[in-house]
This record gives sequence, structure tokens and C-alpha cells, in this order.
Amino acid sequence: MLNSFPDDSRALVTGASRGIGLEFVRQLLADARFTRVLAGCRDPGRAVDLATLAATEPRLQLLRLDVADDQCAASAARAAREISDRLHLVVNCAGMLHDASAGVVPEKRLADVRPEALAASFAVNAFGPLLVAKHFEPLIARRERAVFASLSARVGSIGDNRLGGWYAYRGAKAAQNMFTKTLAIEWARSRRNVVCIALHPGTTDTGLSRPFQSGVPPQQLFAPERTVRQLLAVIDRLTPADTGRFFAWDGSGIPW
Ligand SMILES: NC(=O)c1ccc[n+]([C@@H]2O[C@H](COP(=O)([O-])OP(=O)(O)OC[C@H]3O[C@@H](n4cnc5c(N)ncnc54)[C@H](OP(=O)(O)O)[C@@H]3O)[C@@H](O)[C@H]2O)c1
Repeated sequence: MLNSFPDDSRALVTGASRGIGLEFVRQLLADARFTRVLAGCRDPGRAVDLATLAATEPRLQLLRLDVADDQCAASAARAAREISDRLHLVVNCAGMLHDASAGVVPEKRLADVRPEALAASFAVNAFGPLLVAKHFEPLIARRERAVFASLSARVGSIGDNRLGGWYAYRGAKAAQNMFTKTLAIEWARSRRNVVCIALHPGTTDTGLSRPFQSGVPPQQLFAPERTVRQLLAVIDRLTPADTGRFFAWDGSGIPW
């Protein structure tokens, strides 16, 4: 599967409790090259699907990782070091578009904008991958292949914005994209083996997209299995020259 990675590779997936993150965990475990898969989730006690997988899969380890919480990310990185001294692949899947319990509803117009919703979206979508980078950087493999991939969204592209709306999500993903690019520039100087990129998964049938699927043609709504298979194929083809770029599920480039 992931032929570009060495034997005995180690991966971290954030937002692994459900949706695309959970499917990344499944498919990485299906690849014998990956001897450790660390699954970050906010509440391991409630991550039923991960617990079921972990019951029969010793290569899978659950980590408590709220990506919006700097202290939690620091503790998770310390716990990860106890399990593995290096990581070859980090996939940031944690993200949020709507959250009824926090009153986050994607805005249709300016009048819908609420500071609390902006802050909640930025905390997860924008700050999350950056805090993961900060705390897990020492674990990222230095001499072997290493990929740091963050799930962004095409709607976070400023150049591609034709419809407007969704201020909090668009703005937070655009900020995430800027952090990814800035990190790629820093690592191109200090950790030249790391390929740091943003990925657009395509509209995928998960809880995140479910309220917004009615206008999506069936052939454009991917099952998580397909999305992750496609994204792993993109990841497998990456070279160091690709660092700092934004790729869609089919490997095409997206403007920032
Ligand atoms: N689905 C799509 O159509 C689509 C399209 C474009 C981009 N994306 C992006 O793809 C990524 C995955 O989306 P998805 O469709 O899999 O969404 P999902 O099914 O709603 O899953 C979101 C995941 O993020 C986790 N999460 C939320 N806040 C977190 C936090 N503070 N710390 C750690 N984990 C947190 C959730 O954990 P809990 O179980 O604890 O809530 C859950 O595991 C997101 O970044 C999303 O923006 C998705």
C-alpha cells in the first residue's frame, strides 16, 4: 500500500474517534509496514470504534488528544514518546464544521457571525494542527521519510472562494493553510526530510458533511473508505519538492 514508507513505520492520526480519522486508522493498520498507529482522540473512554479495533490489534494505541488544548497536546506527545521514539506519518484529521452543543452553525450571511463560533472553529481547525506540530515535532523522523499532512478543505482556499458563506469554517481553514505553509518553510530549513502539506478529502459521508449533503451529486459524495484510499495514494506519491502545497483527493493542486 504505502510503498514509499520504510518497514517499521509509525503513524499518528488525530481526530481518530470517527469519520475520516477512524478510517485512516483502519487503513494504516491494514498495512503491515506500520508497526505502531497512535490514534489521538478527545475522549478515549467514549471512542467505541477505536476501542473495538484496539482489542484485537496490539499495534494500535489510543492517546487522549484534544488538539485545541495546548497542555493536552503536550501530555499526548509525552505519552506518545513512551510508545514510539519516532513518527513517519502524522495525519491531522480533527476538525469541526458544526457543533450543536457549542452553538456552532455554519453562517449563511454576515448577520449570523458569532465570536464564540469563530473562536471554537479556529481553536480546532486552525490552531489544532499547529499545536500538534509544536508538541510532536521532536518525534518526527529525522533521517527517514516523514509526512505531516493536515486535512483542510477546498472552501479554505481564498483563491477558490466563489460562493462565500461559512465564515468561521472558511476563515479557520484558510488560517490552517497559512500555518501549514509557514511550517513547511520552517521545516524546509531545519528538517528537510519532512513533507508538510494540506489535503482536501472531497465531500465525504461523515457527521461533518451530513447536514449539507442534499445538493451533492451521489458520485461526488465519497464513502470514508474511498476518501482515505485516495488520500493515502496522494501521500504515497509525495516527494520533498511537494512540501508547502495544498492537494485535492485526486492529487491535483489547489490554490491557497
Ligand atoms: N467530510 C467532509 O466532507 C470533509 C470535507 C472537507 C474537509 N474535511 C475535513 O476532514 C477532517 C475530518 O472530517 P470528518 O468528515 O471525518 O469529520 P467528523 O466525522 O465530524 O469527525 C471529526 C473528528 O474530529 C474530532 N475532533 C473535533 N474536535 C476535536 C478536538 N478539539 N480535538 C481532537 N479531536 C477533535 C472529532 O472527535 P469527537 O468524536 O471527540 O468529537 C472527530 O473524531 C476535518 O478536518 C474536516 O474539516 C471533511
